Amino acid sequence: DWNAGNVIAEQVARIREQVGSARVISALSGGVDSAVSTALVQQAVGDQLTAVFVDHGLLRKGEREQVQQDYVQATGVRLVTVDAADTFLAALEGVSDPEQKRKIIGREFIRAFEQAERDLIAEAAAEGEPIRFLVQGTLYPDVVESGGGTGTANIKSHHNVGGLPEDLQFELVEPLRTLFKDEVRQIGRELGLPEAIVGRQPFPGPGLGIRIVGEVTRDRLDLLREADAIAREELSAAGLDGEIWQCPVVLLADVRSVGVQGDGRTYGHPIVLRPVSSEDAMTADWTRLPYDVLAKISNRITNEVREVNRVVLDVTSKPPGTIEWE
Ligand code: XMP
Repeated sequence: DWNAGNVIAEQVARIREQVGSARVISALSGGVDSAVSTALVQQAVGDQLTAVFVDHGLLRKGEREQVQQDYVQATGVRLVTVDAADTFLAALEGVSDPEQKRKIIGREFIRAFEQAERDLIAEAAAEGEPIRFLVQGTLYPDVVESGGGTGTANIKSHHNVGGLPEDLQFELVEPLRTLFKDEVRQIGRELGLPEAIVGRQPFPGPGLGIRIVGEVTRDRLDLLREADAIAREELSAAGLDGEIWQCPVVLLADVRSVGVQGDGRTYGHPIVLRPVSSEDAMTADWTRLPYDVLAKISNRITNEVREVNRVVLDVTSKPPGTIEWE
């Protein structure tokens, strides 16, 4: 029967055979699939692998540190971080349309990744070992969904950070192709990856960029990042992580309402809590969270996050509402 240790041993052997002495690159997103597939390849070929992490400035609080410190410590992977927040923000200036945001974020992601890739290719060439392989965290359901073919760029297109460049000449290393999500999590735990990564809720590739209804700006991102961190902290403290599939926290940046805080009236923004229960994100129900937990989150957000004077709860199932607001 199924055993994480056996799967790891099998995959490590397979990866070694596939890769030989060539170099490999991998894109880490902070999510569980890329974290586990990268860790497996690291275990198999060590320093032949370089992982690239694009910080697009749309991450949640602490996610960059999770990758740069905790993940690197747990795996020993050679990591290159691309600081692309300024570029992404500039490209998103004045844009409110959700699909437009996704397109821009996808495009900028590819640009940032390709830049890092070019540097690495040059470096590897100088050392005489070409980069021939790219790690992909493709899971079994992705394989089925895309018709089972293996390609050179069989990417989970728009449901991941923009996908990766389509004209890649890399051969793919896909150690999770036969696995389901819960198995991937077990393997991650067996590999000693940080629980914050292994147990992470689904988080969209375009990140907080599609959780600000309206234009994405640095101030708005800072504000939403704080509100999101408070909600996650309180949900975890209440032991509710297992009941929730995910809980988007959304900033209605173009809406203002009147409030009263401290000595005076305010004219601030609402934050929406969108806790959902689901099996596969295709359908979802809103999670009936305990009132006292909701009260705590609401109190903390309105007290601690400037410019937010109202917290509202989304009580819509999917369908008709999608999980995300954009
Ligand atoms: P919706 O909002 O369509 O979301 O009900 C279903 C699931 O997909 C995630 N999601 C995305 N993931 N890029 C991603 O990588 C995206 O553009 C994107 N849009 C939605 C969402 O978080 C939920 O888990």
